[in-house]
Amino acid sequence: MKILGIETSCDETSAAVLSGDEVLSNVISSQAVHLQFGGVVPELASRAHVRKIVPIVDEAMKNAETNFSQIEGIAVTYGPGLVGALLVGINYAKGLAMVLKKPFAGINHIEGHIYSNFLGKSNFAPPFICLVVSGGHTMIVLVEDHLKYRVMGKTRDDAVGEAFDKVAKLLNLPYPGGPEIDNLAKNGNVTFVKFPRALMKEKSFDFSYSGLKTAVLNYLKKITGHELKENLSNICASFQQAAVEVLVYKTIEAARTYQMRQIAVCGGVAANSLLRTLMKDEAAKFNLSVNFPALKYCTDNAAMIARAGLERIKQGYGSTLDLNAYPSLQLGR
Ligand code: KG4
Ligand code: ZN
Repeated sequence: MKILGIETSCDETSAAVLSGDEVLSNVISSQAVHLQFGGVVPELASRAHVRKIVPIVDEAMKNAETNFSQIEGIAVTYGPGLVGALLVGINYAKGLAMVLKKPFAGINHIEGHIYSNFLGKSNFAPPFICLVVSGGHTMIVLVEDHLKYRVMGKTRDDAVGEAFDKVAKLLNLPYPGGPEIDNLAKNGNVTFVKFPRALMKEKSFDFSYSGLKTAVLNYLKKITGHELKENLSNICASFQQAAVEVLVYKTIEAARTYQMRQIAVCGGVAANSLLRTLMKDEAAKFNLSVNFPALKYCTDNAAMIARAGLERIKQGYGSTLDLNAYPSLQLGR
């Protein structure tokens, strides 16, 4: 079954063509217009999506050597995200579904991230514990079966990706800060500063990242600009260690509590090199297997939306053409 996926929930315009688990094309255009503002400006994002949506879909179709008559279903993100940005993808997808007379499915962006774990892997299957870590979300989800989720815990304040981005800003690093900190931390000492590990002792799968961000801010107030420059990689490494240790500990606890043998990780922060190694090392101690999406499928992309769409359309959970955008959409059936 060939599915066209479309993702426009934030600052990436992306289109992908999928045939089963095989990704035939996945085109992602990141909007550079936000760089000068240090964060995403919603109105500029919508305008850039309007300009990009047609050429990006055309490119995805061309790369997949597919024409529209061969497309058997269309999947599009309908939340959570920026309402104006979401509407661009939704309206384009609806128009196309109407013209092609093909089924169409609205996809929860988080569900899309969860499905990035299946891309290119025909032998990966539920049930599993999924750690979702992105710029907007930090949650532990029990994926009982396809399209069947139970959220076991989530952040009570900032998302972990948001903490990476905010700390990077404090350190005068460019946006998005996650990859910058990841790179600098490679040469740093993780024990240089002792930052807090929030909610580690609490019997809950919730997270909290605002305290860690404040701890970095308070630490930076106490040191000189020269000291910061000298120890930039040590500070990055210490922050990253604190942020990642909690993710790994809680995910493994969740897998053991719910007797899951498989762990999956997804979302932009799943690209983090420490998270990738530490999760595998710790899980191995309990004989748990760990699945990470390929790096290119960690950050926002349309291939993951198409993969979730394939499952929804296959199981008859398509959407009707009155589908709206839901900026605060929750994960559920
Ligand atoms: O999933 P994503 O592309 O967008 C959202 O749905 O939010 O995630 C973006 C987030 C940003 O906060 C970015 O800093 C973070 O993922 N990120 C990373 C890394 N690569 C991206 N965080 C830590 N280490 C990385 N290597
Ligand atoms: Zn995302």
